[in-house]
Amino acid sequence: MEALRQPIVCVLGHVDHGKTSILDSIRGTSLMKKESGGITQRIGATEISIQRIIEISGGKISSKMFKIPGLLFVDTPGHVAFANMRTRGGALADIAILVIDINDGIMPQTVESINILRKFKTPFIIVANKIDTLAYFIKPENTSFSEFLKEQRQEYIDELDNKLYAIINQLYQHNLTADRFDRITDFTKNVSIVPSSAKYSIGILEILMTISGLAQRFLTPSIALINNLAKANVLEIRREESLGMTLDSILYQGKLKTGMAVYVNTSEGPKETKIKALFTNVSSKSTKVTERSVVNSASGVRIAISDKLDVIPGTTLIEAKGDIDSIIKELQEESQVK
Ligand code: GTP
Ligand code: NA
Ligand code: MG
Repeated sequence: MEALRQPIVCVLGHVDHGKTSILDSIRGTSLMKKESGGITQRIGATEISIQRIIEISGGKISSKMFKIPGLLFVDTPGHVAFANMRTRGGALADIAILVIDINDGIMPQTVESINILRKFKTPFIIVANKIDTLAYFIKPENTSFSEFLKEQRQEYIDELDNKLYAIINQLYQHNLTADRFDRITDFTKNVSIVPSSAKYSIGILEILMTISGLAQRFLTPSIALINNLAKANVLEIRREESLGMTLDSILYQGKLKTGMAVYVNTSEGPKETKIKALFTNVSSKSTKVTERSVVNSASGVRIAISDKLDVIPGTTLIEAKGDIDSIIKELQEESQVK
């Protein structure tokens, strides 16, 4: 049997609703505090292994529950100015998490995100974040959402329900039927809402379980196989003293190797170049950047290339193999759409 790659999980939502904080809680990092003004300005990819999910569960779940090798999370900016990055993230995603601040409810970039998910037909879950800010909140001993609820007073449980119903009603105005994840019986008709607090790590396990469930229910047959033609989406282009041109990318299909010939779109149209070096763990500042000779999808990867080209951000990078004419045609069509 051929190996399935990790699903790409895009995190979308209105500015400051807590996307990066939720990812920090999943990773056990605090990247959000390092961002200038706490505003995300770029797309970043983070791999979460099944091992990490088991660790978050305190060993309560088993690796046997998973058919996927892990999840590749893609964080996007929620600020109004970065619509193109949200669309790029949305286009890449196999599945998505839409983050909504439980007090703010649906805001302009929430609606924009819903429209992106609709356009690309991306299955998604909703996370209602910042539940620690509601009245009568008691700081939990246990951080799984279901255990947390058992420690709360009835006043808090009612307050949470009121806020959730308000959001469910707003979503209904946008033709989405949603409900709290543990109240849903038909997952094909309803969108799951997982209440969370990134601040206290409440509901993080349920987010991971719900998103893994969504991936396995709807996506297993359609997740691209590792053995297909390598394709990556180039997010950022940088020039580095020692390496020359580097392309921060998300590999979503196939595998990349050093020395491999690839095509990218440049200001002068599609051009061929070679992969000089590959690096992973570039955006997760908690771990060391690692040089690799082979990288499998899906993965965030920094690609150093041999030629000095005026590469267009957002271009697909495609392995130069097989029918080269059709690769060039695909890139030409891509640049016409933009
Ligand atoms: P952009 O990337 O700029 O769109 O924002 P974001 O959605 O990534 O939100 P971010 O993680 O930067 O969080 C915004 C603010 O909300 C920060 O001050 C966080 O500390 C705070 N915050 C995030 N999650 C929670 C939470 O669960 N509870 C509380 N009380 N504050 C939170
Ligand atoms: Na922010
Ligand atoms: Mg952010």
